[in-house]
Amino acid sequence: MSTPVNTPASTPESHYDDNEIVNHSNNPHFSALMQARLNRRGALRGGIGATTAALLGSAGLSACGGSDDDDDTDNGGTEEPTTSMALSFAAVAKNQLDHVTVPEGYQIAILHALGDPLQYGDASWADDGSETPESYARRVGDGHDGMVFFGMSVEGRYDATHSERGLLCVNHEYVVQPYGLHPAGRTAGSAREASEVDKEILAHGVSVSEVRRAAGSTALALVRGSRLNRRITSDTRMVMGGPAKGHAKLVTKWSEGGTVAFGTNNNCACGYTPWGTYLTCEENYLNVLGRGADDNAQRSAEEVVALNRYGLPENRTAPYRWSSAGADDKYARWDSKVSAASAVEDFRNEFNTFGWVVEIDPFRPDSTPVKRTHLGRFNHEGAWPAPAVAGQPIVIYSGDDARGEYIYKFVSKAVWDPADTNTGAAAGDKYLDEGTLYVARFNADGSGDWLALTHGQNGLNASNPLYPFADQGDVVMHARLAADHLGATKMDRPEWGGVNPANHEVYMTLTNNSNRVDSATAASGSKIQVDAANPRSYTDTYGGVSTSSGNVNGHIIRWREGGSQGATRFAWDIFLFGAQADAAADVNLSGLTDVNDFSSPDGLYFDPRGLLWIQTDDGTYTDTTNCMMLAAIPGQVGDGGQVTAAGGGVTYKGANATPDTVLRFLVGPLECEITGVAVTPDGKTLLFNVQHPGEGSADFAANTFASGWPGTDGYGGVRPRSATVVVTRSDGGVIAL
Ligand code: FEO
Ligand code: CA
Ligand code: CA
Repeated sequence: MSTPVNTPASTPESHYDDNEIVNHSNNPHFSALMQARLNRRGALRGGIGATTAALLGSAGLSACGGSDDDDDTDNGGTEEPTTSMALSFAAVAKNQLDHVTVPEGYQIAILHALGDPLQYGDASWADDGSETPESYARRVGDGHDGMVFFGMSVEGRYDATHSERGLLCVNHEYVVQPYGLHPAGRTAGSAREASEVDKEILAHGVSVSEVRRAAGSTALALVRGSRLNRRITSDTRMVMGGPAKGHAKLVTKWSEGGTVAFGTNNNCACGYTPWGTYLTCEENYLNVLGRGADDNAQRSAEEVVALNRYGLPENRTAPYRWSSAGADDKYARWDSKVSAASAVEDFRNEFNTFGWVVEIDPFRPDSTPVKRTHLGRFNHEGAWPAPAVAGQPIVIYSGDDARGEYIYKFVSKAVWDPADTNTGAAAGDKYLDEGTLYVARFNADGSGDWLALTHGQNGLNASNPLYPFADQGDVVMHARLAADHLGATKMDRPEWGGVNPANHEVYMTLTNNSNRVDSATAASGSKIQVDAANPRSYTDTYGGVSTSSGNVNGHIIRWREGGSQGATRFAWDIFLFGAQADAAADVNLSGLTDVNDFSSPDGLYFDPRGLLWIQTDDGTYTDTTNCMMLAAIPGQVGDGGQVTAAGGGVTYKGANATPDTVLRFLVGPLECEITGVAVTPDGKTLLFNVQHPGEGSADFAANTFASGWPGTDGYGGVRPRSATVVVTRSDGGVIAL
């Protein structure tokens, strides 16, 4: 989802943006309280804090960037950080072209775009909106976002070593109503056209498609008509798994037992499991869910607290207005109001069925997706696994993408047995339905703690003054409230994460935060003061005019956990600060230059070789360049030093970026977001997504768009569409190295 800070919205109500919501809780923000005390200690020591040094020491690391003589068993038998990688392409220049620009010696092809048929029998994209709503059950959806490539063996089973053939799972996050699906834009008026809503419901969700290389090519292409091609939509039947399964707060007219749910929505980023399933994450479901007038009077006090904390006050109309399309339950369910005598007769709890991580088995096209509730309910950006280690728990990290929200980690109770590979939802039941959900606290001395969201511990019980947690299902369903109570650290919009396969350090983008205020400004309302882990607040210009303030350009935090996969302590620093190359030194803290400067990091991915990819979804540097993707060679926590950032936050940064460590690999077309990335195991094919090209300035009444992509790169028609792009080297070599 784009964050058009400066670009005009397509229509005032066209979509709800993930920059619109904010954590208003009175969480005392433990790390802020600690800052003054620990700053003294940091100043005495210089460089990284004492607790952090101790933590790094426990993991066998030198905080001064010296040799890493880590005891491998501490991190599950991981390897030493790779030092042999070297970037071997010429940086792509910042630009505002309506093309995908890749380095010399590279080429692109489009794998699929909005509306392309996955099966035979449906017409090809006509570029005039004539595709029937019903056909979207078999067509590629809109708003390509997170994706995962699953290598496939000749027997049609998951095999992570295969590059020639696989299944590509792609999220279709949202629909670009002004031009994507509807030939003349969304029909005006307060009541939606049912045929438009029908099309939108089916254009959301996930696509699964078989992809193959042709003989002699390193490019992957869609296998149209494959029996494994599949669409999961906002209408697909799913089951609930984990502690909230069967919960009274999940009971609806369509789920008397609270054990099933229908559809997955606004799927942003993603993840995968070592047993070969896809994890798709429900982020901006407030796009499609509203709540009727005067509904609070029909609710208990605790329900009102929960609904408000999750951004659904009474009398809220969802931007997409699906509930206005007719009296049928398939439309009515998108208004989460009390309208009958009991929960089994209305959709008052529909809202609670979204905000989860959904597991899909792409190798079994008839399988039922499962909403894995133990991973918590919030604006789930994604779900990023640590590399699985036999005999250790499964670990999955996730972020809640809203201003001032939190970072979470799930640790399974069961320990990993590689024999469970390819067992689909049965493995999901085993590893994802029982365990511990934690939330992160980043301390001012560079250390951190994982705080358990466990019912009955630390005041997470029915007597809690913030919200009465009835049981573990209630805790995971209202993870934000539980995290508020524990004093988790409010972050600058957590987006994508990834775990370095070489040393298991975890990276996560914090894309930006317009609510972050400097150390001289008191926190109030939704405004949050800078802290060590979110240290910058400053003003930025757009087209020469000061427009944005706060943490405008975002940063990438990383941490190293001591001990086993289930560790509850960590040491952190900030890998990179986004900035314009010409920004002040206390803004451009990572020393970015023209070959690698960027703003608003969003997508982040460690490829199978351990190379790190960074993607942007930006609205503050787009006066200079379209959104982009960069390649980076990661260092390790502690390889930089202590700095004071613009706005007054005292923090720990990683080593400065250089042309040897961070380079711009590509730039996207006009007004797009670059998101979703996968690299084949052999490193010869890179896939990425272009989302919503031309979104900012479409004039559908005049049928004009700022972007004509992917048509401008030779793919079907003139109407801008989201699409998956395949990048290969012209000589068939490996990407970027
Ligand atoms: Fe859909 Fe947080 O980006
Ligand atoms: Ca995103
Ligand atoms: Ca700017």
